[in-house]
Amino acid sequence: MILRIASLPTARRPCHDHSSLSRLFVLPVRASRGVHGTSAAPAWKPSMALDEWVQREARPISLRQLTFFGRTLTESRLLDSANYCRLELPTRIAHRLRDIQTLPYVVVANPHLAHVYELYHRAFERFRRVKEIRTLEENDNYCNLLEETLAEHATVIPRLAIGMLEVQGLMKPEETDRFMNTMLRSRISRRVIAEQHLALTDTFNSPWHFPHAQSAHDTEAVGEIFLRCNAREIVERCGKTTQDLVRKAYGPQAAIPEIRINGHLDATFPYILSHLEYIIGELLRNSIQALIEQRQWKDTTPPPIEVLICETSQHVIIRISDQGGGIPTEILPHLWSFSKGPRRQKRIENLARVPKLLGTLQELKVPGHQSHQHAPAPNTKTKYGDSRNHQGSLSSLASRPPDLRLGIGLPMSRIYSEYWAGSLEIHSLEGFGVDAFLQISKLGNKNERLTTRAMMDA
Ligand code: COI
Repeated sequence: MILRIASLPTARRPCHDHSSLSRLFVLPVRASRGVHGTSAAPAWKPSMALDEWVQREARPISLRQLTFFGRTLTESRLLDSANYCRLELPTRIAHRLRDIQTLPYVVVANPHLAHVYELYHRAFERFRRVKEIRTLEENDNYCNLLEETLAEHATVIPRLAIGMLEVQGLMKPEETDRFMNTMLRSRISRRVIAEQHLALTDTFNSPWHFPHAQSAHDTEAVGEIFLRCNAREIVERCGKTTQDLVRKAYGPQAAIPEIRINGHLDATFPYILSHLEYIIGELLRNSIQALIEQRQWKDTTPPPIEVLICETSQHVIIRISDQGGGIPTEILPHLWSFSKGPRRQKRIENLARVPKLLGTLQELKVPGHQSHQHAPAPNTKTKYGDSRNHQGSLSSLASRPPDLRLGIGLPMSRIYSEYWAGSLEIHSLEGFGVDAFLQISKLGNKNERLTTRAMMDA
């Protein structure tokens, strides 16, 4: 056992000095009260099953593979998709469980992180026991399990974020950020896999499903992937939602900046709409709020937010420029950090408000989680504005009042943008404004990025 742990690949080895193998297995902890109670530190035991699953590598996918796979959907393909999920989800969760196990004890004793560990452990135990899926009925049962688990995991992001802020000082900031990056990328990846399979199952079960009639021209979406996302339309829609939200939060007298869009207005590309809406919603919200909160524009019309769309052979680049005064110099070095920054206490308080704000913990909507009840019919020309994907992501955009600063919007947006081989950069012009550059890989042929650039280079 010890040898196996010691020979983990470098990227998964404990990234701190406090590692103690005894801590990995037998923790003298209070009994845990399960995922719905107040958790104590997780009581993990040696697990052969986990050791076995950790030996497997994740099999990365690209948007293009997902699209081609789901485009002509037959029963056998649907079952292949189910079995890909069946093996892939416990593999990916196993790696993250092992990551958590290698954190210092004082860190995992944090109730939020302990709770996340328990959620993952429970999901791992459920998923790894699923036998090969051979029939549509077995697939339906599997889909129920997926849905239930997706709902149970709805609070993972705020819990991880609060936990990591609370344990600040117990780990090096770079280690904390690396851990968070890996956890969040992996979570996105699992949700993509699970939601794509749920969406394909809906498509297959829908009365409009005629597998061989589907072609690139008669469908707009394959599962969760919208084949022709139009940057202008998405900016317009996210802009309007954000303007409405901000108007509600600041009152009708607030001068809301106009959003002007120029450039290659017809550029389209395949993408998961909820990912894009999260990123663009965050960037526009930051710009609008910066302008509103600048005293300079208090009694006048603020200058517009300028959005420029630029299409190249491989990319679509979206630049969002505001004149909101730029980012304060004390915040700039911590812009991408989950663990550091001058407003740590305020961020903890705000993050703790999220679940309460939304009623119960399990009702919390986070990007990437939609119910799979209302899939667009595959062969109808459903405008993505009407799809469930749109409703899901915009409702998650709407679920957080603008005055609730969580401090995770920008780092999360960068993780989303890099996930499908894109990038996000922010240039602050002190005293003037901010330019945000979002680059999207247009061809969809790059594999999901499960590690950060820095980790890949290492
Ligand atoms: C998560 O949302 O954290 C997951 O692990 C997704 C998985 C349950 C499909």
